[in-house]
Amino acid sequence: MTWVRFQGTRLACIPTYPTKIHNPSIPRPMTPFDILPLQAELADKNPRTILKKALAQFDNIAISFSGAEDVVLIDMALAIRKDIQVFSLDTGRLHPETYRFIEKVRKHYQIDIELLTPNRDELDSFVKAKGLFSFYEDGHQECCGIRKVEPLKRKLAHVDAWITGQRKDQSLDTRQTIPEVQVDSAFSSPGQPLIKFNPLINWTSAQVWDYIEAYQVPYNDLHQHGFISIGCEPCTRPVLPNQHERAGRWWWEAGAKKECGLHAGNIKEN
Ligand code: ADX
Ligand code: SF4
Repeated sequence: MTWVRFQGTRLACIPTYPTKIHNPSIPRPMTPFDILPLQAELADKNPRTILKKALAQFDNIAISFSGAEDVVLIDMALAIRKDIQVFSLDTGRLHPETYRFIEKVRKHYQIDIELLTPNRDELDSFVKAKGLFSFYEDGHQECCGIRKVEPLKRKLAHVDAWITGQRKDQSLDTRQTIPEVQVDSAFSSPGQPLIKFNPLINWTSAQVWDYIEAYQVPYNDLHQHGFISIGCEPCTRPVLPNQHERAGRWWWEAGAKKECGLHAGNIKEN
Protein backbone atom coordinates (compact mmCIF):
# COMPACT_ATOMS: atom_id res chain seq x y z
CA MET A 1 0.00 0.00 0.00
CA THR A 2 1.17 3.53 -0.66
CA TRP A 3 -0.14 7.01 0.03
CA VAL A 4 -0.61 9.11 -3.09
CA ARG A 5 -2.05 12.50 -3.82
CA PHE A 6 -5.41 11.57 -5.31
CA GLN A 7 -6.78 13.58 -8.27
CA GLY A 8 -4.45 16.42 -7.46
CA THR A 9 -6.01 17.38 -4.16
CA ARG A 10 -6.69 14.47 -1.84
CA LEU A 11 -4.50 11.88 -0.30
CA ALA A 12 -5.55 8.33 -0.90
CA CYS A 13 -4.09 5.06 0.21
CA ILE A 14 -4.15 2.72 -2.74
CA PRO A 15 -2.54 -0.59 -3.41
CA THR A 16 -0.36 -0.21 -6.45
CA TYR A 17 0.86 -2.37 -9.31
CA PRO A 18 3.07 -2.04 -12.38
CA THR A 19 1.61 -0.81 -15.65
CA LYS A 20 1.96 -2.47 -19.08
CA ILE A 21 0.19 -5.68 -18.18
CA HIS A 22 -0.05 -8.10 -21.08
CA ASN A 23 -2.20 -10.90 -19.78
CA PRO A 24 -5.32 -9.85 -17.83
CA SER A 25 -5.80 -13.37 -16.49
CA ILE A 26 -2.60 -13.12 -14.45
CA PRO A 27 -3.37 -11.58 -11.03
CA ARG A 28 -1.96 -8.10 -10.60
CA PRO A 29 1.03 -7.99 -8.27
CA MET A 30 0.95 -5.39 -5.50
CA THR A 31 3.87 -3.12 -6.34
CA PRO A 32 3.93 0.68 -6.24
CA PHE A 33 1.85 2.65 -8.72
CA ASP A 34 2.04 6.37 -8.29
CA ILE A 35 -0.41 8.48 -10.27
CA LEU A 36 1.38 11.75 -9.49
CA PRO A 37 4.20 11.57 -12.06
CA LEU A 38 1.69 10.63 -14.77
CA GLN A 39 -0.58 13.49 -13.78
CA ALA A 40 2.34 15.92 -13.82
CA GLU A 41 3.53 14.67 -17.21
CA LEU A 42 0.09 14.97 -18.81
CA ALA A 43 -1.10 18.20 -17.17
CA ASP A 44 -2.53 20.58 -19.80
CA LYS A 45 -1.41 18.32 -22.65
CA ASN A 46 -3.35 17.97 -25.89
CA PRO A 47 -5.58 14.94 -26.58
CA ARG A 48 -3.11 13.24 -28.92
CA THR A 49 -0.29 13.39 -26.38
CA ILE A 50 -2.53 12.03 -23.63
CA LEU A 51 -3.82 9.22 -25.86
CA LYS A 52 -0.33 8.35 -27.01
CA LYS A 53 0.83 7.98 -23.43
CA ALA A 54 -2.26 5.99 -22.41
CA LEU A 55 -1.96 3.56 -25.32
CA ALA A 56 1.78 3.16 -24.88
CA GLN A 57 1.62 2.56 -21.16
CA PHE A 58 -1.34 0.17 -21.06
CA ASP A 59 -1.93 -2.77 -23.37
CA ASN A 60 -5.21 -3.71 -21.81
CA ILE A 61 -6.99 -0.37 -22.16
CA ALA A 62 -10.39 0.38 -23.64
CA ILE A 63 -12.08 3.44 -25.13
CA SER A 64 -15.56 4.14 -23.87
CA PHE A 65 -17.54 5.43 -26.86
CA SER A 66 -20.95 6.99 -26.26
CA GLY A 67 -22.02 7.26 -29.89
CA ALA A 68 -21.58 11.03 -29.98
CA GLU A 69 -18.78 13.48 -30.68
CA ASP A 70 -16.34 11.43 -28.61
CA VAL A 71 -15.78 9.55 -31.88
CA VAL A 72 -12.73 11.83 -32.23
CA LEU A 73 -11.04 9.61 -29.62
CA ILE A 74 -11.37 6.63 -31.95
CA ASP A 75 -10.10 8.63 -34.92
CA MET A 76 -7.05 9.84 -33.00
CA ALA A 77 -6.34 6.53 -31.29
CA LEU A 78 -6.32 4.59 -34.56
CA ALA A 79 -3.58 6.85 -35.87
CA ILE A 80 -1.49 5.78 -32.88
CA ARG A 81 -2.32 2.10 -32.53
CA LYS A 82 -4.47 -0.18 -34.71
CA ASP A 83 -5.48 -2.73 -32.08
CA ILE A 84 -7.62 -0.44 -29.97
CA GLN A 85 -10.44 -1.80 -27.79
CA VAL A 86 -13.68 0.15 -28.07
CA PHE A 87 -16.91 -0.46 -26.20
CA SER A 88 -20.28 1.18 -25.99
CA LEU A 89 -22.98 0.75 -23.36
CA ASP A 90 -26.06 -0.39 -25.20
CA THR A 91 -28.73 0.56 -22.69
CA GLY A 92 -31.49 -0.60 -25.03
CA ARG A 93 -32.81 2.97 -24.92
CA LEU A 94 -30.46 4.75 -27.32
CA HIS A 95 -31.86 6.74 -30.25
CA PRO A 96 -32.15 4.85 -33.56
CA GLU A 97 -29.74 7.48 -34.94
CA THR A 98 -27.17 6.50 -32.30
CA TYR A 99 -27.41 2.80 -33.17
CA ARG A 100 -26.97 3.69 -36.84
CA PHE A 101 -24.04 5.91 -35.96
CA ILE A 102 -22.30 3.20 -33.92
CA GLU A 103 -22.65 0.91 -36.94
CA LYS A 104 -21.36 3.65 -39.25
CA VAL A 105 -18.28 4.11 -37.05
CA ARG A 106 -17.68 0.35 -36.95
CA LYS A 107 -17.71 0.16 -40.75
CA HIS A 108 -15.89 3.43 -41.39
CA TYR A 109 -12.91 2.49 -39.23
CA GLN A 110 -13.19 -1.29 -39.72
CA ILE A 111 -13.08 -1.87 -35.97
CA ASP A 112 -14.96 -3.98 -33.47
CA ILE A 113 -17.19 -2.06 -31.11
CA GLU A 114 -18.16 -4.19 -28.15
CA LEU A 115 -21.77 -3.51 -27.16
CA LEU A 116 -22.34 -4.05 -23.48
CA THR A 117 -25.88 -4.92 -22.49
CA PRO A 118 -27.56 -4.90 -19.08
CA ASN A 119 -27.90 -8.05 -16.99
CA ARG A 120 -31.05 -9.74 -18.36
CA ASP A 121 -32.53 -10.87 -15.01
CA GLU A 122 -31.92 -7.55 -13.29
CA LEU A 123 -33.46 -5.66 -16.19
CA ASP A 124 -36.47 -7.97 -16.43
CA SER A 125 -37.33 -7.59 -12.75
CA PHE A 126 -36.81 -3.85 -12.87
CA VAL A 127 -39.07 -3.38 -15.89
CA LYS A 128 -41.65 -5.79 -14.45
CA ALA A 129 -41.74 -3.87 -11.18
CA LYS A 130 -41.49 -0.33 -12.46
CA GLY A 131 -42.22 -0.25 -16.19
CA LEU A 132 -40.25 1.53 -18.86
CA PHE A 133 -40.35 5.14 -17.71
CA SER A 134 -39.98 5.07 -13.92
CA PHE A 135 -37.08 7.54 -14.14
CA TYR A 136 -39.54 10.38 -14.80
CA GLU A 137 -41.11 9.64 -11.42
CA ASP A 138 -38.32 8.57 -9.10
CA GLY A 139 -35.12 9.69 -10.81
CA HIS A 140 -32.67 8.23 -13.28
CA GLN A 141 -30.25 6.59 -10.84
CA GLU A 142 -31.90 3.17 -10.64
CA CYS A 143 -32.35 2.74 -14.38
CA CYS A 144 -28.84 4.09 -15.12
CA GLY A 145 -27.52 1.75 -12.45
CA ILE A 146 -28.94 -1.28 -14.26
CA ARG A 147 -28.57 -0.21 -17.88
CA LYS A 148 -25.21 1.59 -17.68
CA VAL A 149 -23.28 1.26 -14.46
CA GLU A 150 -23.50 -2.49 -13.91
CA PRO A 151 -22.43 -3.38 -17.50
CA LEU A 152 -19.63 -0.82 -17.26
CA LYS A 153 -18.46 -2.28 -13.96
CA ARG A 154 -18.40 -5.74 -15.54
CA LYS A 155 -16.26 -4.48 -18.42
CA LEU A 156 -13.90 -2.45 -16.30
CA ALA A 157 -13.13 -5.46 -14.11
CA HIS A 158 -11.23 -6.84 -17.12
CA VAL A 159 -9.12 -3.85 -18.12
CA ASP A 160 -6.26 -1.99 -16.48
CA ALA A 161 -7.27 1.43 -17.77
CA TRP A 162 -10.04 3.13 -19.71
CA ILE A 163 -10.37 6.23 -21.85
CA THR A 164 -13.33 8.58 -21.79
CA GLY A 165 -14.43 11.59 -23.81
CA GLN A 166 -15.23 13.77 -20.80
CA ARG A 167 -14.55 17.48 -21.18
CA LYS A 168 -14.59 20.30 -18.66
CA ASP A 169 -17.00 22.33 -20.76
CA GLN A 170 -19.62 19.55 -20.65
CA SER A 171 -20.56 20.47 -17.11
CA LEU A 172 -19.80 23.58 -15.13
CA ASP A 173 -20.86 21.74 -11.99
CA THR A 174 -19.23 18.33 -12.11
CA ARG A 175 -16.41 18.30 -14.68
CA GLN A 176 -14.30 21.37 -13.94
CA THR A 177 -11.66 19.68 -11.80
CA ILE A 178 -11.23 16.43 -13.70
CA PRO A 179 -7.56 15.75 -14.45
CA GLU A 180 -6.10 14.29 -17.66
CA VAL A 181 -5.48 11.02 -15.83
CA GLN A 182 -6.74 9.76 -12.51
CA VAL A 183 -7.23 6.66 -10.41
CA ASP A 184 -10.89 5.84 -10.96
CA SER A 185 -12.39 6.24 -7.52
CA ALA A 186 -15.68 4.62 -8.54
CA PHE A 187 -14.49 1.46 -10.29
CA SER A 188 -11.15 0.55 -8.78
CA SER A 189 -11.36 -2.54 -6.66
CA PRO A 190 -9.24 -3.41 -3.64
CA GLY A 191 -5.82 -4.36 -4.91
CA GLN A 192 -6.67 -3.26 -8.45
CA PRO A 193 -6.55 0.46 -9.06
CA LEU A 194 -8.13 1.31 -12.40
CA ILE A 195 -6.62 4.17 -14.33
CA LYS A 196 -8.90 6.56 -16.20
CA PHE A 197 -7.66 8.82 -18.98
CA ASN A 198 -9.64 11.86 -20.14
CA PRO A 199 -7.76 13.00 -23.25
CA LEU A 200 -10.37 15.58 -24.35
CA ILE A 201 -10.59 17.20 -20.94
CA ASN A 202 -8.81 20.40 -22.02
CA TRP A 203 -10.64 20.74 -25.32
CA THR A 204 -13.76 22.78 -25.87
CA SER A 205 -16.73 21.62 -27.88
CA ALA A 206 -15.58 24.01 -30.64
CA GLN A 207 -12.19 22.29 -30.85
CA VAL A 208 -13.84 18.87 -31.08
CA TRP A 209 -16.07 20.09 -33.92
CA ASP A 210 -13.13 21.73 -35.71
CA TYR A 211 -11.41 18.34 -35.61
CA ILE A 212 -14.52 16.52 -36.87
CA GLU A 213 -14.79 18.93 -39.79
CA ALA A 214 -11.09 19.09 -40.60
CA TYR A 215 -10.59 15.31 -40.62
CA GLN A 216 -14.02 14.41 -42.04
CA VAL A 217 -14.87 12.31 -39.02
CA PRO A 218 -18.36 10.73 -39.15
CA TYR A 219 -20.86 12.13 -36.64
CA ASN A 220 -24.25 11.31 -35.16
CA ASP A 221 -27.15 12.77 -37.24
CA LEU A 222 -28.77 13.97 -34.01
CA HIS A 223 -26.19 16.74 -33.85
CA GLN A 224 -27.91 18.23 -36.89
CA HIS A 225 -31.19 18.36 -35.02
CA GLY A 226 -30.25 20.50 -32.03
CA PHE A 227 -28.81 17.74 -29.84
CA ILE A 228 -25.47 18.53 -28.26
CA SER A 229 -24.98 16.12 -25.36
CA ILE A 230 -26.44 12.75 -26.38
CA GLY A 231 -27.50 9.99 -23.99
CA CYS A 232 -30.53 7.70 -23.98
CA GLU A 233 -33.56 8.70 -26.05
CA PRO A 234 -36.08 9.22 -23.21
CA CYS A 235 -33.56 11.21 -21.18
CA THR A 236 -32.05 13.51 -23.81
CA ARG A 237 -33.54 16.44 -25.63
CA PRO A 238 -32.22 19.21 -27.86
CA VAL A 239 -31.25 22.46 -26.18
CA LEU A 240 -32.25 25.97 -27.09
CA PRO A 241 -29.72 28.55 -28.27
CA ASN A 242 -27.72 29.77 -25.26
CA GLN A 243 -28.80 26.85 -23.09
CA HIS A 244 -25.97 24.73 -21.72
CA GLU A 245 -25.68 21.27 -23.33
CA ARG A 246 -26.23 19.56 -19.98
CA ALA A 247 -29.69 21.14 -19.79
CA GLY A 248 -30.82 18.59 -22.36
CA ARG A 249 -30.03 15.63 -20.08
CA TRP A 250 -32.49 14.41 -17.39
CA TRP A 251 -34.11 17.85 -17.69
CA TRP A 252 -37.01 17.01 -15.37
CA GLU A 253 -34.66 16.53 -12.43
CA ALA A 254 -33.71 19.41 -10.17
CA GLY A 255 -30.09 20.14 -9.32
CA ALA A 256 -27.17 20.87 -11.55
CA LYS A 257 -24.92 17.97 -10.53
CA LYS A 258 -26.20 15.54 -13.12
CA GLU A 259 -24.10 12.42 -13.55
CA CYS A 260 -25.45 8.98 -14.30
CA GLY A 261 -22.91 6.95 -12.37
CA LEU A 262 -20.36 6.28 -15.13
CA HIS A 263 -18.37 9.17 -13.75
CA ALA A 264 -19.66 9.05 -10.19
CA GLY A 265 -16.32 10.24 -8.82
CA ASN A 266 -16.99 13.63 -10.43
CA ILE A 267 -19.69 14.41 -7.91
CA LYS A 268 -17.66 13.40 -4.89
CA GLU A 269 -14.72 15.44 -6.10
CA ASN A 270 -16.69 18.68 -6.41
S1 ADX B 1 -22.90 10.64 -19.05
O1 ADX B 1 -22.27 10.02 -17.86
O2 ADX B 1 -23.50 11.94 -18.79
O3 ADX B 1 -23.79 9.74 -19.78
P1 ADX B 1 -21.53 11.85 -21.25
O4 ADX B 1 -22.68 11.61 -22.17
O5 ADX B 1 -21.29 13.23 -20.81
O6 ADX B 1 -21.63 10.89 -19.97
O7 ADX B 1 -20.22 11.26 -21.93
C1 ADX B 1 -18.94 11.39 -21.34
C2 ADX B 1 -18.15 10.17 -21.66
O8 ADX B 1 -18.70 9.04 -20.94
C3 ADX B 1 -18.19 9.73 -23.11
O9 ADX B 1 -17.27 10.43 -23.90
C4 ADX B 1 -17.86 8.27 -22.99
O10 ADX B 1 -16.47 8.08 -22.82
C5 ADX B 1 -18.59 7.88 -21.72
N1 ADX B 1 -19.96 7.40 -22.06
C6 ADX B 1 -21.13 8.05 -21.90
N2 ADX B 1 -22.16 7.30 -22.34
C7 ADX B 1 -21.62 6.16 -22.80
C8 ADX B 1 -22.13 4.97 -23.41
N3 ADX B 1 -23.44 4.80 -23.64
N4 ADX B 1 -21.26 4.01 -23.78
C9 ADX B 1 -19.94 4.14 -23.55
N5 ADX B 1 -19.40 5.22 -22.99
C10 ADX B 1 -20.21 6.23 -22.61
FE1 SF4 C 1 -32.31 4.73 -18.13
FE2 SF4 C 1 -32.42 7.27 -18.92
FE3 SF4 C 1 -30.30 6.33 -17.55
FE4 SF4 C 1 -30.74 5.61 -20.08
S1 SF4 C 1 -30.22 7.69 -19.31
S2 SF4 C 1 -30.14 4.30 -18.47
S3 SF4 C 1 -32.98 5.44 -20.12
S4 SF4 C 1 -32.43 6.58 -16.83
